[in-house]
Amino acid sequence: FKKIGVMTSGGDSPGMNAAIRAVVRTCAYHQVQCLGIYRGYQGLIEGDFKEMTPRSVNNIINKGGTVLKSARSQEFRTVEGRKKAYEQVKASGMEALVVIGGDGSFTGGMVFNEEFDFPVMGIPGTIDNDIYGTQFTLGYDTALNTVVDAIDKIRDTASSHNRLFFVEVMGRDVGHIALNAGIGAGAEEILIPEEDMGKDRLVESLKRSRKNGKSSSIVVIAEGDTTGENVFDLKDYVLQNMPEYEVRVSVLGHMQRGGTPSCFDRVLASRMGVKAVESLLEGKTNYMVGIQNNKMALCPLDKAVKGKTEIDTELLRVSDIVTI
Ligand code: F6P
Repeated sequence: FKKIGVMTSGGDSPGMNAAIRAVVRTCAYHQVQCLGIYRGYQGLIEGDFKEMTPRSVNNIINKGGTVLKSARSQEFRTVEGRKKAYEQVKASGMEALVVIGGDGSFTGGMVFNEEFDFPVMGIPGTIDNDIYGTQFTLGYDTALNTVVDAIDKIRDTASSHNRLFFVEVMGRDVGHIALNAGIGAGAEEILIPEEDMGKDRLVESLKRSRKNGKSSSIVVIAEGDTTGENVFDLKDYVLQNMPEYEVRVSVLGHMQRGGTPSCFDRVLASRMGVKAVESLLEGKTNYMVGIQNNKMALCPLDKAVKGKTEIDTELLRVSDIVTI
């Protein structure tokens, strides 16, 4: 290849900039030109490209967000949109594409590859850690640290007022952030979509905690959890059954996606960027770069998109034991 494109797509995550930097510099290392594509697939359709050199990615390894911007493009879901994108790609001389994003972004890449036989390589970037084929996605570790930090602060006020706090965290349909950050922050209960605890067991458990002398509690709930209609409904249910408790809800929201990437995410992003470009140069296409047992590994894009990640049952047990 003489020219490779790189884009970030879907929800941003800390570590995306470090991955862009690694892709750009690996291209330069192998004397390949690199084109930055702005605003994901929308920028691909509009030809919003800029040539990137090792110096254009100076001082971004430590920055959250993405310097290439991100978007969820509706137009790219249409045949016409993808045709326009291919015309732009041809005109620019781009011969392969690195997509940093989540499963929606990979599906776009796969369709583009099928229709135009265009080489595509994925790098998993999402705080949710919900991509099959990698133990860790970019931004997950940073998000965990952000959530733990936020809950530590909530704990200060919860214990000062003897209150029960529901803290809702992101994660889309999975509970990885909730389970890991919940254990890390010492939450009493952790509610995740993968394991339905039921409202009554939750109330029983909170009552038991009270009896055991706990005057305040933190319940971490994943946004995709279905124990109640939503976190406010759950709060009302607990209040009905435990009117003596003062209950508050804190929805952490998009602050979980921002901030300086952790060292873990920066190193992971650097490794993934190098592996993505070198795999393309070896002629591999339609794969996602992942990490398994601390080794870089490739996973076919369709498996990465269709496969489901699993919750670690050992962690569930650990959480039960350490909150006694
Ligand atoms: O996939 C990352 C994520 O932050 C999810 O945790 C969340 O459900 C979703 O994106 C929010 O999307 P948006 O930024 O479009 O509101």
